[in-house]
Amino acid sequence: MKITVLNGSPKGELSVTIQSVAYLARIYPQHEFNIIHIAQRIKRLETDQALFNQVIEQVRASDAVLWSFPLYILIVHANYKRFIELIFERGAEAAFAGKYAASLSTSIHFFDHTAHHYIHAICDDLEMRFVDSFSPDMHDLLKEEGRQQLARFGQQFLEAVRNQVPTQRQYPPLTHRKFSYQPELLPNPVATAGKKVVILHDEQQPDSNLTKMVARCRSAFAGEVTVVNIHDIDIKSSCLGCLECSGNYHCAYTGKDGFIEFYKATVMTADVLIYAGRMVDRYLSSRWKMFFDRSFFNTHTPVLIGKQVAFVISGPFSQVPNLMEIFSGYFEFQRANIVGVVSDESGNSADLDRLLDQLPARALAYLQAGYLRPQTFLGEGGLKIFRDDMYGRLRTVFAADHRAFRRMGVYKTFPSAELNIVLLNTFVAPIVNLPPIRKKFDKMIKKQMVASHQKVVAQAQAQAHEKKA
Ligand SMILES: Cc1cc2nc3c(=O)[nH]c(=O)nc-3n(C[C@H](O)[C@H](O)[C@H](O)COP(=O)(O)O)c2cc1C
Repeated sequence: MKITVLNGSPKGELSVTIQSVAYLARIYPQHEFNIIHIAQRIKRLETDQALFNQVIEQVRASDAVLWSFPLYILIVHANYKRFIELIFERGAEAAFAGKYAASLSTSIHFFDHTAHHYIHAICDDLEMRFVDSFSPDMHDLLKEEGRQQLARFGQQFLEAVRNQVPTQRQYPPLTHRKFSYQPELLPNPVATAGKKVVILHDEQQPDSNLTKMVARCRSAFAGEVTVVNIHDIDIKSSCLGCLECSGNYHCAYTGKDGFIEFYKATVMTADVLIYAGRMVDRYLSSRWKMFFDRSFFNTHTPVLIGKQVAFVISGPFSQVPNLMEIFSGYFEFQRANIVGVVSDESGNSADLDRLLDQLPARALAYLQAGYLRPQTFLGEGGLKIFRDDMYGRLRTVFAADHRAFRRMGVYKTFPSAELNIVLLNTFVAPIVNLPPIRKKFDKMIKKQMVASHQKVVAQAQAQAHEKKA
């Protein structure tokens, strides 16, 4: 059988992920694995229609497609995203329809699930027959167990194609509503009071909903606001994946384009950040993706700590919960506070006016109050993956993160770094777990668990009484 492999790594043949595909090709030599370096050649694929058509013809002539990609900022690389956009823009969907598909990524498991949800949903939109996704750690191929599981994944996929197994669509098609936003209420602006507010957007059409939403959002602030169209930032190219930044945050593009300077001077110094974008397929535009990818010059070090962040989206945002998960994961890991999201998918123009007025007001109120929501599983779990990897196996490469994590106290969250936990586990735990003591302890757990909390509540009550008196 002929399998077309769409390689989403900007590193082409030097891709770690593609080694897993090469492994499959070696152990299943009866099948042809035709690897096409999509992400590395996106500029040519964009400008050379004949080359793009050639890729599409290769897909058409194959029995199945394997989407092979590295994780890039919680989803796929900007160039891969651009290729997906080109498929729809150039009407090439028919070549994919009815083809069997699977996805194979490598990563360090930081939001690999959101990338796979995205690719699976794209396959559904292309009416492909999606079989399976496989998401090993970037080093799993080096382990016997990893190779065995990879071989099984390959075998299951190839058998599914050969046996023409039935598959079911998992992600319903998106419905786009026809709605033209015409602001109608008088804005009631809130003073920025010397705080730095930055609105970033990617709109290029002067009369679109997004253009009007950005303008409305701007007019909800009284005072200076920086509004930047990210198409106007001097960005030469997408992230190369070269990791030159890993030692000291020095990006290979330093001095070659304006992105790093812009990001440091405008984004990293803001108090309130509003990200405005139009949905393109099931994410924002590939331009936005390029923006996020290039911000990786800060590697895994959070640089948006304490900022209030809001989103203004044009498109069916609530139909793609995966996108909110990506926003939450990214900004929680950055330790920013997500104020909220406003989209044009429901309500009338007056409703949208009110929503767009209250978003800036809330952002400024949160800022003033110092309100930072606790991290959810996404931020907590994500940071722990980075903490463990930067302390451990990736320290040699990501030396800058290691220094930053030490400075920021990230390593103090290791349970082994907390003296009271060490003492508890060394001396108290063995005694408590002696069978007769454990029996009594079990009866006390519920009361014990809440005792300290009750003390805090009682103190608060006493303090409130004192204040009244
Ligand atoms: C700019 C950049 C962003 C990345 N983002 C993620 C991420 O969000 N989640 C993750 O688990 N790994 C992430 N990684 C790690 C890569 O996915 C991983 O190293 C992968 O194996 C690289 O594969 P490749 O050599 O095929 O490009 C990122 C790496 C780079 C360079």
